[in-house]
Amino acid sequence: MSEDVRKQIQALRKEVQRHEELYRKKHAPEISDFEFDKLLDQLADLERAHPELAGPDLGIGDDKAEGFQQADHRAPMLSLDNTYDEADFRAFGDRLYKALGGSGLELIIEPKVDGVAVSLTYEKGRFVRAVTRGNGTRGDDVTANVGLIREIPRALKGAPEVLEVRGEIYMELEEFQRLNAERETEGEAPYANPRNLAAGTIKLLDAEEARKRRLSIVCYGLGACEPADAFGTLKDFKAKLKSWGFPVRDDIDVQQGVDAAWEAIRRLDTLRRGFPFPTDGAVVKVNRIEDQRRAGTTSKFPHWAVAFKFPPDQADTVLRSISMQVGRTGVITPVAELEPVLLAGSTVGRATLHNAGEIAKKDIREGDTVRIQKAGEIIPQVLKVVLERRPADARPFDFEGRLKELGLDATREGEEAAYKLRSPSREMKIRRLIHFASKQCLDIDGLGEAVAEQLVDLGLVDAPVDALAVSADQWRLLEGFKEKSVDNMMSGLADARNRELWRAVHALGIPNVGMQTAKDLARHFRSMDALADAKKPDLLITKVGKKGGVSYESVIAGVGKEVSESILSFFSDPNHRDWVKAMRKAGLNLAESTVGGSVEGVAGKTFVLTGTLPSLGRDEARDLIEKAGGKVSGSVSKKTDFVVAGEEAGSKLTKAQELGVPVIDEAALRKMLGG
Ligand code: IVH
Repeated sequence: MSEDVRKQIQALRKEVQRHEELYRKKHAPEISDFEFDKLLDQLADLERAHPELAGPDLGIGDDKAEGFQQADHRAPMLSLDNTYDEADFRAFGDRLYKALGGSGLELIIEPKVDGVAVSLTYEKGRFVRAVTRGNGTRGDDVTANVGLIREIPRALKGAPEVLEVRGEIYMELEEFQRLNAERETEGEAPYANPRNLAAGTIKLLDAEEARKRRLSIVCYGLGACEPADAFGTLKDFKAKLKSWGFPVRDDIDVQQGVDAAWEAIRRLDTLRRGFPFPTDGAVVKVNRIEDQRRAGTTSKFPHWAVAFKFPPDQADTVLRSISMQVGRTGVITPVAELEPVLLAGSTVGRATLHNAGEIAKKDIREGDTVRIQKAGEIIPQVLKVVLERRPADARPFDFEGRLKELGLDATREGEEAAYKLRSPSREMKIRRLIHFASKQCLDIDGLGEAVAEQLVDLGLVDAPVDALAVSADQWRLLEGFKEKSVDNMMSGLADARNRELWRAVHALGIPNVGMQTAKDLARHFRSMDALADAKKPDLLITKVGKKGGVSYESVIAGVGKEVSESILSFFSDPNHRDWVKAMRKAGLNLAESTVGGSVEGVAGKTFVLTGTLPSLGRDEARDLIEKAGGKVSGSVSKKTDFVVAGEEAGSKLTKAQELGVPVIDEAALRKMLGG
């Protein structure tokens, strides 16, 4: 018996840890918060019943990421306990009422913004740093990326000596949709939800990339404060935050007592549908700071605040049919074509079914009535089949049979993997070619969608590299190609042959390798051959722990396990190795250029740019440094070799001075680059 329980506890702990990693480190959760909480409760119950079998504290909730410096919080950053129904919420109210000796409860109700918690420290009224929650005591210093959020005031008039302002960084729904539309045109899988994208963005090491994604913030909490009695109530504190320019939510005024608070939560559930950000609940907090102190905290949660999670929106509708979507890399995603239904304020007609395994596991059949749900994610999920409403003639879905009917020749490696086309479809060939020729790859002027379609349809291009071998006579076959346009195309192709190595690497379209990773790979391997021949240890250092657990460490910053595996698998395909050969045959530059590059003193050095330089734009300066073999990073650390500072340089300059990193101006940089 106890052996069974021990095994059960072990399995649960492993499962909890796996989901915790997926959520915090990879920003790609597989289950909802609700399901995660259920797992935690189950584990807690078992361990309470069998304390002799309980393991060490799981240390849940550390968001520590590689490449960031850590900083201590002056006051701990706690999390919130969750409640899911009215009874749960009222029990919280009763406990509070008792703890405060029955005195009148003043409660603040706010939307629970689905983002990432951050602490902003102000010293003598100046913004000094932004730190993630981390383990609650110590978090990652994300000042560089958070500093990009304009609404955060840099200076506060009449502020306490020391002030920690707590808030939530989030991505507006509109910005999330804009970025996903962009990804779609690049042929990449969409981001799952705004929360994970916001979390991923503040942990980006590439400042340039971070700049392209707009984040927002809402402030709601008081951390450390000196003097400690600067604010009497949360309401006063929020009013002060507002006067300093911080975004705050005051949709609902202070409520007296639990009944009024419950009414306000109901009201908020309606209001939130008009908010421009994702919300998954309401947060209820005691207004008077003195009462908060009296109520106290556990090591994880305050007793004076609680989250109320709104149930996700669900609806039942008929699944008319299952269609297949083919991505740039040939991955096939089944999609549920639904009887349109209203869900969380918008009409839903399609939902992702993920892969064949998911359809089999849930036994989803065409004609079934299915329950769909929209929680934090924008793309609705199919939760389950409503079996009572299954038509008598519904047959199990034959995935492979459907692929055959559609003429799709696909296979999969193992039950859980996705089906992938064995040979590329017309659509894939066109997508790949557009990517190959795009501005962020070989930058071939004039080779857009219309031209790509013709090249593929005329059979002139199969693999994207074939475009480089299309002759002038063949170009003349294309609609609208006269002498002038043929000349332009030939000279455009000649230019493409001499571009930097990273462009050729990016042009290959290796899954999970974007522009920044392509640059990092080119800088590290210095030639296409070295990259194509890389073995696993060239990319990842495998570490085996004392208990046999395996972990990995990156050789190249930003190239983790997933990206490494993607690279190795790409080059293990003989077709892809042929592409490299064809690139060489076409005369494409496949080595890190040394012409004007690798400038002594710059090569291998890390630079950070800050402020406005007199004549060079950010991108220009970055390009020059990278061409000379240097690297540009977004944040200053001990590893930074030079900080290039211009006018209105901010916290990065201060940080450089603190760490003793040499600070140079544009003139000095130009000198290093050879005038
Ligand atoms: S107050 C000690 N207010 O939800 C209490 N938190 O699941 C600190 N959150 O850790 C939190 N909106 O990251 C508070 N209006 C709000 C919030 C909010 C979102 C986040 C926050 C917190 C998490 C708990």
